[in-house]
Amino acid sequence: MGCDFVLDKGSLDKHLITEFIGRSIEYYDSISSTNNRGKEIADERQEGTLVIAEEQIQGKGRLSRRWISPKGKGLWFSIILKPDLKPDKVYKITLIGAAAISEALKEIGIKSYIKWPNDIIVEGKKVCGILTEMGCEKDRVKYVIMGIGINVNLEEEDFDDELIKKATSLRIIAGKEIDRSILLAKVLNHIEKLYIPFKEKGSLDETIRICKERSILIGKEVRILRGNTETLAKVLDIDDEGHLLVQYEDGKKEKILSGEVSVRGREGYI
Ligand code: BTN
Repeated sequence: MGCDFVLDKGSLDKHLITEFIGRSIEYYDSISSTNNRGKEIADERQEGTLVIAEEQIQGKGRLSRRWISPKGKGLWFSIILKPDLKPDKVYKITLIGAAAISEALKEIGIKSYIKWPNDIIVEGKKVCGILTEMGCEKDRVKYVIMGIGINVNLEEEDFDDELIKKATSLRIIAGKEIDRSILLAKVLNHIEKLYIPFKEKGSLDETIRICKERSILIGKEVRILRGNTETLAKVLDIDDEGHLLVQYEDGKKEKILSGEVSVRGREGYI
């Protein structure tokens, strides 16, 4: 902390209509990882606290991958949530994030797809990833950190040769700079809208509806990766609990839990 809000705080406040998500903010010019900071402060901070940084030095992706987070070009943030939840249900929080981001992009005129459970795809490339982490006590969740990285205004040179084959930014797609503060407000608004019914009644209905409607996987032949083993399957559906329903080549069906596997198309990235 201790520096001006380079993201436009006035604009964020103007567009934010939430009750508690993003109402308390820890803002950093540079940090190792907003998820790590979120975990450090989660116990003493209120639900909905936003940890956001202009730059992450050690941005983390899923499966111990790095997440490039250049200064002032993206939205790199984590939200502290405190749902009354068993640890094995935390994957549902990722789906809420994915649906909310896709809704926010729709509002700014960008059509996106959700690659279950945690990637947002635009024009065949990844623009956003979600890394959900948690702290637990016995078999209850103490806090959940929903970490979101959105490649907003990155340019081609911000990606290395490997990454540019499968990732892009909203700016590259739209051909113009995108207002990060407005987009952030919209994402936070949608997260709260989808999170409240989940927290209060356990309802994921709207989240699942959006995840199914925008799914890039349903109906596709995919490879399912578990450790070093790869299995071919067809994605049939996403069920009411948010599991991916697949059918293997031998006809056997299985419900896949978020976080267990990575799913890739037969060709290219998707
Ligand atoms: C993935 O697609 O593998 C998930 C990427 C998550 C990146 C975000 S950026 C903000 C938060 N802090 C981190 O270190 N990671 C998440």
